[in-house]
Amino acid sequence: MPIMPAPAPAPATKMKRIAVLTRDCGGVNAAIRAVVRTAVGAGLEVEGVMRGYDGLMSGDFVPLDRRAVSNIIGLGGTILKTARAEEFYDEAGQRAGLGHLRARGIDGLVVIGGNGSLAGAWVLAERYGFPVVGIPATIDNDVPGVRLAIGTDTALNVALDALDKIRDTATSLERIFIVEVMGRKCGWLAMQVALSGGCEEVLLPEKDVPLEALCAEVTAGRARGKASWIIVVAEGRSTAAAVAEAVTAGTGLETRIAVLGHIQRGGRPTALDRILAARLGHAAVEALVEGRTGGLVHMLDDRLEFLPFGAAGDVKQTDIEADYHLLKVLS
Ligand code: F6P
Repeated sequence: MPIMPAPAPAPATKMKRIAVLTRDCGGVNAAIRAVVRTAVGAGLEVEGVMRGYDGLMSGDFVPLDRRAVSNIIGLGGTILKTARAEEFYDEAGQRAGLGHLRARGIDGLVVIGGNGSLAGAWVLAERYGFPVVGIPATIDNDVPGVRLAIGTDTALNVALDALDKIRDTATSLERIFIVEVMGRKCGWLAMQVALSGGCEEVLLPEKDVPLEALCAEVTAGRARGKASWIIVVAEGRSTAAAVAEAVTAGTGLETRIAVLGHIQRGGRPTALDRILAARLGHAAVEALVEGRTGGLVHMLDDRLEFLPFGAAGDVKQTDIEADYHLLKVLS
């Protein structure tokens, strides 16, 4: 599939060896597979960087051939393992990583991850001129300019499955449940879980819903005979425990909580995430080979696009108002 639009005509490179570095979420292994098999098919050698930027700084690499990525398409997590590596924010860490890439004769790097991982990729490309292409992969779906990152659909389906089960108990016992969903700065996951789960309310980092108003709504609903509620809260807004306390205090009604936590980042990737991973993994290698670096590949509508790092700003602009309105009309 061609990458459109090309940022600038770039000469084809003489890449011989590339590396791939990852974060974890549903579909990342499928993306590693696509990167490796596309690269090997194009005559390149591939190395995997173990434990994300930690392994880059310490020089922990593993060779990856076609067989090394057999049967991983349906696995959650990342076969390369990953870590949070604060030291990569420092110049010393960046230079150490760059030194290992050069010493191993690596001509280009594919970084698969969210905003933190992609910020590291940006630094390598912008500050040191190293050829890097990013692939957005995060359950938060908060990468600026990217409609859908790898991992979001899997996380949404895992969370929805949990929520449907909670609804069984909420309905049977006529209870109020507060369900905490991941998402530090972006409420995308919480909003989509709430909408697909038919929830009554969702509390998001992007929107201020006063808890007094929520309590008044619950009290009025109870007076009309409404029996159960499921209220979703994004972790970036508050905790399930704090919201439950406020609702009980404001209504006098019993509440229960569920914190979905890291189950949302694991699990078998959905078909949609695997297909996205196949397309973006393939496109990232094509971009490197064609000399397009310093940006990420993603799908814009049904087309592949190369988006230079930073071109879409620092914060993802999500319009949650329409979905929030829909949720309230339908609940
Ligand atoms: O950025 C992805 C994410 O899963 C967030 O939703 C969550 O807040 C965070 O990572 C958790 O990080 P950790 O796994 O390091 O606790």
